[in-house]
Amino acid sequence: MRPLIAPSILSADFCRLAQELETVQTADWLHVDVMDGQFVPNLTVGVPVVESLRATTDMVLDVHLMIEKPLRYVEAFAKAGADYLTFHLEADHPTGIRAAVDRAAQLGVKPGVALRPITKAEAVAPYLPDLDLVLVMTVEPGFGGQAFLADQLDTVRAARALIHKLNPNCLLEVDGGIDPATIGAAFAAGADVFVAGSAVFGRPDRAAAIAELRGGCHG
Ligand code: DX5
Ligand code: ZN
Repeated sequence: MRPLIAPSILSADFCRLAQELETVQTADWLHVDVMDGQFVPNLTVGVPVVESLRATTDMVLDVHLMIEKPLRYVEAFAKAGADYLTFHLEADHPTGIRAAVDRAAQLGVKPGVALRPITKAEAVAPYLPDLDLVLVMTVEPGFGGQAFLADQLDTVRAARALIHKLNPNCLLEVDGGIDPATIGAAFAAGADVFVAGSAVFGRPDRAAAIAELRGGCHG
């Protein structure tokens, strides 16, 4: 399928978010990084920001929860208007992750699960039939602007094989260090959705940055 580009607002100017959104209208999704200072050392944005984004844009809101015990916030993010809600497998016991996936689906939000670099692709298998998205981190979660971890391409390939076997409709996303030089390898390994923070918002011409990312998938 056609690659989907998801700019991460983590690298945007939060004082000018509406104008920043205007500059990425040629992208496919908008990626929102929610961090709690526990699951990852950093703190970012939460429910009110997703609510404001929903009131401002029709873009698909891809909400990446880097928070402990995400079940506690599924309902709030669903009400706020998230389209995709992604939970880290390392953020709770399997029963908590299962409950979060089920709750999201009940509320009409597309559930996803994310893997830190330490987590094997096989860990998604029990949830896969019920997922719309698998997110393979290609950096340690927590900060934008880090270097792409090429070792994670093995995990991308393994996740693609599992998706092919268990739920071919599920999308496969990569997040971290994606730029025109690294996106081709992730695309070849089987990713469909490409999160890019600094490679989009760190550039003055966002449309050109998005076009270069698309180009990198084929070149
Ligand atoms: C990192 C976040 C990413 C981040 C990516 O924990 O999940 O979405 O914004 O930033 P770049 O593209 O700059 O690596
Ligand atoms: Zn992210």
